[in-house]
Amino acid sequence: MLLKSLLLVAAAGIGLVLVTTAMSDTDRDHARSVERGRYLVTAMGCNDCHTPLKLGPNGPEPDMTRMLSGHPAEMALPPAPGLPEGPWNTVAAGTLTAWNGPWGTSFTANLTPDPETGIGRWKEADFAATVRTGRHLGRGRNLLPPMPYQNVAALTDADLHDVFTYLQSIPAIANRVPQPLPPARQ
Ligand code: HEC
Repeated sequence: MLLKSLLLVAAAGIGLVLVTTAMSDTDRDHARSVERGRYLVTAMGCNDCHTPLKLGPNGPEPDMTRMLSGHPAEMALPPAPGLPEGPWNTVAAGTLTAWNGPWGTSFTANLTPDPETGIGRWKEADFAATVRTGRHLGRGRNLLPPMPYQNVAALTDADLHDVFTYLQSIPAIANRVPQPLPPARQ
């Protein structure tokens, strides 16, 4: 009986070794990159603005069914209220995905790998160029507040690689975020 159990344990052990070695170095690098990217995205608060908040039983909470998909396209917003010049000059929608301030109205981007509405067609170089320069794809318009691109630009190339690898691994969500609006004329 004891011998049989020992044999079973040994067989299971060999099986485990076989399964582990079946995973190639490339797979292992990819899995490690995804995990570290998830950690960086979580710790750097990308969800704070790129995942809409919804009202839950204990107050606002991120709607993870829309994880990192940006401002919900179907959410119709009235024009932002005119704000006085002065210290109180920025407002946000309750989702924290639409922001209005002296720069106009900005909407947080869809960072999921959807090819049409997210960053599914982006190469890693496109992502790096965008966050390193603070300009869309490194050559388009400047990114508007409150996107903290300077924080992301402070990452090493290896960390940026992991963030991009993680973002490409999450569920693709089709959500076409509106273009920003210029500041309203007073
Ligand atoms: C405080 C809110 C906020 C946080 C936190 C934030 N973002 Fe953003 N992000 C925005 C807004 C707003 C935009 C849209 C800016 C615009 O339209 O110019 C944006 C745009 C972007 C874009 C540009 C997309 C494009 O098409 O050019 C990328 C890439 C991006 N964010 C990545 C990130 C990552 C990665 C993190 C976490 C490290 C992050 N953001 C955290 C608000 C935020």
